[in-house]
Amino acid sequence: MRVLVAYATRHGATAGIAERVAAALAAAGLSAEARPVEDVKDVGPYDAGVPGGAAYMFHWLKDATRFVRRNQGMLARHPTWLFSSGPLGTDAVDALRRGPAAAGRARGGAARAPGPRRRAGGRRGRAPGCAPRPRPSRSGA
Ligand SMILES: Cc1cc2nc3c(=O)[nH]c(=O)nc-3n(C[C@H](O)[C@H](O)[C@H](O)COP(=O)(O)O)c2cc1C
Repeated sequence: MRVLVAYATRHGATAGIAERVAAALAAAGLSAEARPVEDVKDVGPYDAGVPGGAAYMFHWLKDATRFVRRNQGMLARHPTWLFSSGPLGTDAVDALRRGPAAAGRARGGAARAPGPRRRAGGRRGRAPGCAPRPRPSRSGA
């Protein structure tokens, strides 16, 4: 089986992931190659597809989306596995498409970045053992 791992990257991380995926598939005995989506002119020779893209502002890079749209016929007919590169993923956008209830759950989950007060280590800006800064008085005194 010949597998195409096609990726869209802006800064190279997704290319690295694609190379690792292709190497793992090759180690499992498949013929796999990682290629940037813009270099793939014809998906005809492949028996399976692994398209992936970096997520920016909750969306795949446009080149990744275009690749999947352009080749949806082949991908629908063959084994296909999609991947996203990015710590947050596209959960919030996917959930919005599913409806408001799912979107609420997603916002409370992985797609919501922790604020400074919820990070491990407690409050910001105070070294261990230091006294808290006095709060400014409302009266101005
Ligand atoms: C401006 C900016 C926006 C980003 N938006 C997201 C995002 O919405 N979701 C996510 O999971 N990662 C996001 N990331 C992180 C990138 O997706 C992540 O670093 C990715 O691995 C970069 O891949 P690349 O090096 O192949 O371009 C963002 C990074 C930057 C700099």
